[in-house]
Parts: sequence; C-alpha cells; structure tokens
Amino acid sequence: MPPFDNPRHVLITGASSGIGAALAVALAAPDRRLSLGGRDITRLDAVAVACRAKGALCETHQADVTDKESMATWLGDADAEQALDLVIANAGISGGTGKRGNATDVSDGEIFATNVDGVVNSVEPALARMLARNAGQIAIMSSLASFRAFGRSPAYCASKAAVRFYGEGLQRAHRDSDVKIGVICPGFVRSPITDANDFYMPMLMDTDHAARRIVRGLAAGKSRIAFPLPLYLGIRMLSLI
Ligand SMILES: NC(=O)c1ccc[n+]([C@@H]2O[C@H](COP(=O)([O-])OP(=O)(O)OC[C@H]3O[C@@H](n4cnc5c(N)ncnc54)[C@H](OP(=O)(O)O)[C@@H]3O)[C@@H](O)[C@H]2O)c1
Repeated sequence: MPPFDNPRHVLITGASSGIGAALAVALAAPDRRLSLGGRDITRLDAVAVACRAKGALCETHQADVTDKESMATWLGDADAEQALDLVIANAGISGGTGKRGNATDVSDGEIFATNVDGVVNSVEPALARMLARNAGQIAIMSSLASFRAFGRSPAYCASKAAVRFYGEGLQRAHRDSDVKIGVICPGFVRSPITDANDFYMPMLMDTDHAARRIVRGLAAGKSRIAFPLPLYLGIRMLSLI
C-alpha cells in the first residue's frame, strides 16, 4: 500500500466553513496544491488566504455538490491540472444549516441531496480516475450519527449511515487496488451544524482538534476514522440495544 502522508494535490468539498475549512488549513503546506469547493465564494476565498499564508498553492471553485455535471467538470479539470491524490467529500448540511439564516426551511430531501447525492457526485469522478492509475485516496465524511437513528434528526442520521455504507462497500469493492477509501465519523464538532443544536453535546470539540485527528487518520491510511473514542464506543453499544 502506498504512503498517504504527503498528498500533493488535495480537493475538499465544503471547505468554506467548519471542519472543511479547518482541514484545508491543517493540510496547507508548501509544494501542496489545494482545490477548495463550496457555494459561498467569499468565505471560501478567506480560507484560501489562510492556506496560501502557509505556503500552499490554493484554488477555489464555487461548487454545489448537488450539481452532478458541474462537479464532474470541476473534478475532471482539477485532476487534469495535477493528479488528485486525496479527495475529501466533506460538504454536508443538517436540519439547521442548509440555507444559512433560514434554518427551519430545510427539507429531508435537501439533506439527502447534499449529504448523499453530493458525496456520490464528489466521489465518482475522482474514484474512476484514481482506479485507472491505481493511486489515490478518497475520504467520505460520515458521522458518529451514522450508528444510531436519533429521533431529532432522522434524515441526517440516515444520510450519514448511507454514505458510511457507501464508503465501506467501496472499500470492499476495491480492496485489491492501491486506491484507499476512508470513512470519517466525528462526534460533535463546534460549527454552524452544532451551533444549531439546542441539546447537550457530550465531548464537543473544536474544528482544529477534529481536523488534526482526521489528517492523522488519513495519513495512516485508516479505513474508518472515528472519534472521540469514548463516544464512539458508547454509540456502538447503544446501537446494539
Ligand atoms: N459538526 C459536527 O459535529 C459534525 C459531526 C460529524 C460530521 N459532520 C459533517 O462534517 C461535514 C462538515 O460539517 P461542519 O460541521 O463543518 O458544518 P459547516 O461549517 O456548516 O460546513 C458545511 C460545509 O458544507 C458546505 N456545503 C453545504 N451544502 C453544500 C452544497 N450543496 N454544495 C457545496 N458545499 C456545500 C458549506 O459551504 P457553503 O455554505 O459555502 O456551500 C460548508 O463549507 C458535514 O458533512 C457534516 O455532516 C459534522
């Protein structure tokens, strides 16, 4: 298995905020190209400034993950520019964050369109190219919420379970290749998604901490990056009940 600790070209969806932005900054380094996507180009450009300050070559692209065709074009163009080593399908919404400032107006369909179709639209074009050259890494953003169907967020939990299963199935489908597929399952991370929650969130962590855990897991080529451990074990036990 090739090393994954120094990807030269990294593409991140949903890099304009929260975990995606923190991942971009954590991965920013000289001689590394970052292709960052999101709908809000102003926030995205601010993230790019921070990445360039760390020496990365950084490009931003206004990209809606629900738009299959434009995602295929963006990923194809980015890969043609320089072969993608790592694609992080991170963009996602919850019931409270889909249309910022209009929190209550997010339908279950919109959650599935972004969190499930959006991931597929981000993974498929990259995976095909990586498999063709037998090199690369794909990371899919799921959640610890994928292990339990919570009544307060049925569509969100279901969407995260769907993409976790998608990633785990892809791992099995391509186990003989050198393309690595990882599934990321964080607990509660401080971001607009958790800001919208009005309940107690155990072990809430900041985005920089989460990004460091994720970058470490990706560099180690892990199939599942799930943290924090006590919450992961707790939710696994809960899911057995
Ligand atoms: N925060 C947590 O506790 C937690 C825990 C586990 C998993 N996660 C997952 O982590 C990912 C990032 O969430 P976050 O907590 O960092 O929330 P966030 O700060 O709200 O970030 C979500 C990102 O996704 C982008 N996005 C949303 N809809 C999009 C669309 N249709 N097309 C392209 N980009 C879109 C947003 O950018 P624009 O608004 O610019 O489009 C933003 O950059 C999500 O998949 C979330 O489910 C979060």
